[in-house]
Amino acid sequence: MNDIKERIAAELIAVRDRSLAYTDAEDDLLVRQHSPLMSPLVWDLAHIGNYEELWVLREAAGITPLRPEIDDLYDAFKHPRKDRPSLPILGPAEARRYIEGVRGRVLDVLDAIDLESRSPLHRDGFVFGLVIQHEHQHDETMLATWQLSGQPGLVRDGALPPGRTGGPDEVLVPAGPFRMGTSTLAWAYDNERPAYQVELPAYWIDRLPVGNAAYAAFVDEGGYDDPRWWTAEGWAWRARRGVSAPLFWARDGGAWWRTRFGRTEPVPMDEPVQHVSWYEADAYAHWAGKRLPTEAEWEKACGWDPEAGRARRYPWGEQEPTRDLANLGHRAARPAPLGAYPAGASAYGAEQMIGDVWEWTSSWFQPYPGFRSFPYREYSEVFFGQEYRVLRGGSWAADPAAVRTTFRNWDYPIRRQIFTGFRCARTAELT
Ligand code: AVJ
Ligand code: FE
Repeated sequence: MNDIKERIAAELIAVRDRSLAYTDAEDDLLVRQHSPLMSPLVWDLAHIGNYEELWVLREAAGITPLRPEIDDLYDAFKHPRKDRPSLPILGPAEARRYIEGVRGRVLDVLDAIDLESRSPLHRDGFVFGLVIQHEHQHDETMLATWQLSGQPGLVRDGALPPGRTGGPDEVLVPAGPFRMGTSTLAWAYDNERPAYQVELPAYWIDRLPVGNAAYAAFVDEGGYDDPRWWTAEGWAWRARRGVSAPLFWARDGGAWWRTRFGRTEPVPMDEPVQHVSWYEADAYAHWAGKRLPTEAEWEKACGWDPEAGRARRYPWGEQEPTRDLANLGHRAARPAPLGAYPAGASAYGAEQMIGDVWEWTSSWFQPYPGFRSFPYREYSEVFFGQEYRVLRGGSWAADPAAVRTTFRNWDYPIRRQIFTGFRCARTAELT
């Protein structure tokens, strides 16, 4: 096998180890629905294998379905998450056997595939990138399910670098054009393509994500009780759901506590805030006299290198993320303290843009000019419109294989169970 195939095989193994670790639990925990927002964990597990079968075995290699009768059960569009527990889905042991059977054949396909093929599914191993990233995305979803369940487990106490205080609150991104998206990254999704030129006026963007201390000040100063800061929908949502602080926060006496993977602990004031909806992020930004960045502002501040006149794969350059550059891959089950990654700064000096927390932007999830759906409409295209807001950067739970400066995630503005925070921006005054 050549180097690229070795690398793909290693990524396949690594992501599977991760999925198996997240489903290494009593059957009862795996088949139970912990929240109507989430699938039972055993559904995610078999869905991962079914997706891999569909794309690698059937579409790329033309192998006949192993278990055609189960396809319908794992089609996310046929069955909303809340209905999944009542489906006749595979049990944990059967799901593990099924995905292992798929995987064995997938490795044979990898052995035989021509990476220089003209077929876009085969070329550069695109279809393997598709299933590796898909599995990582579901793994992050499974972690969110674990967090919502309140069950202990999956906390990892891996060391993170210490925080750093001082330094400017905001960095300036001067006016000028940049290239947004990509036309060249082999494993980029259809929604990141094609690259196109965007011209932005000058703006300031927060050097760091908004921290728990700053967010607690917003809460303690009555931010949730003042409609001035909220959009009309946000205000109505907050009233209807009785929301008065980030998800998983509780006040006890004078102090804020949070529950994280079944443990209750004081809210660490030096960490980026997480588990806030788009409405809360937007309200905070207004309270702070700022606004959320647009998706283009976020991407330029993160990935554009104005001196070289080109986009970087990561804020710091092309080097793969290491433990001193970004907090990715569930090393510890938390965001790193603010200022922990000076070496991970972008060309403009913005820090912690990759890893730690997903960041809400003000933008709807929309196609770039020249968008073409590939390889299927249900990954991106059916979500375009004014329903989902774009999230950027990846969280501590995201894997490097599924994170880059151009990567786009999206969710409903009410969602809070995802590992999401935000930073603020403001248009620079003309002088
Ligand atoms: C890109 C994270 C919004 O989880 O709904 C998983 C990814 N697509 N299976 C999601 C996805 C198909 C998607 N997000
Ligand atoms: Fe999926």
